[in-house]
Amino acid sequence: MRMILFGPPGAGKGTQAKRLEELFGVPQLSTGDMLRSAIKAESKLGKEAATFMDVGQLVPDELVVGLIAERLLASDCSNGFLLDGFPRTIAQANALERMLVDRGLEIDHVVSIEVPDDNIVARLEARRSCPECCAVFHLKYVPPNVANTCDKCGHEGLEQRTDDQEIKIRSRLVAFHEQTSPLKDFYRRKSLLRDIDGTQAPEKVFKAVQESLSKR
Ligand code: AP5
Repeated sequence: MRMILFGPPGAGKGTQAKRLEELFGVPQLSTGDMLRSAIKAESKLGKEAATFMDVGQLVPDELVVGLIAERLLASDCSNGFLLDGFPRTIAQANALERMLVDRGLEIDHVVSIEVPDDNIVARLEARRSCPECCAVFHLKYVPPNVANTCDKCGHEGLEQRTDDQEIKIRSRLVAFHEQTSPLKDFYRRKSLLRDIDGTQAPEKVFKAVQESLSKR
């Protein structure tokens, strides 16, 4: 199972990736999470990435391609992986294809979670994440069982991402439409793309994703 979860910021890629990770036993590879870890670690890459992420722009291709190329070599990816937030440009998609071809592999599925821009700001402004285990909640739609406490690891103190402010969300949406949307045609031409209505409740989206995988 080598799959790409595609969609605008806040579409629910991470939410679905965590469910699929449990179902299929393959790791979620989130370039956003990797970059945030690099920022937390104050690495050179993290410092460079932060200058782009702080303003809602995409991080340069060579930085994220390097991260993914290294991550794909890890033993837990030998049976597959779920890419969440990568590729995000045609250059990244071509680089991914080259990495896989070199190892006689290919992508099996690309699932596009479709959510209109109008829903995105409300979704992201009320997102809260666990800084310990990266579990994701929503104050209204996916609230934690105990306020401000992670259901998964019990950590107290859920956090709001610094890029989940309206002005930055709008920049991320511009980046998505200008630089990432063209990937839909790229994968449609390869007959890999499946569109899913991401405005349904998370469990319904999950069911629709599973159905789309079984059709291929
Ligand atoms: P990244 O972390 O990948 O952010 P993103 O793509 O903007 O996506 P999000 O994580 O915001 O949303 P999601 O789709 O995972 O939604 P979630 O499940 O959390 O990237 C951040 C930044 O890093 C980028 O802006 C860029 O600068 C950089 N970057 C990362 N990858 C890069 C790359 N490849 N190239 C260049 N730069 C890169 O859900 C959102 C909220 O909605 C949650 O609160 C959730 O609980 C709720 N929710 C989920 N599903 C539903 C539902 N069905 N109904 C109602 N609420 C729902």
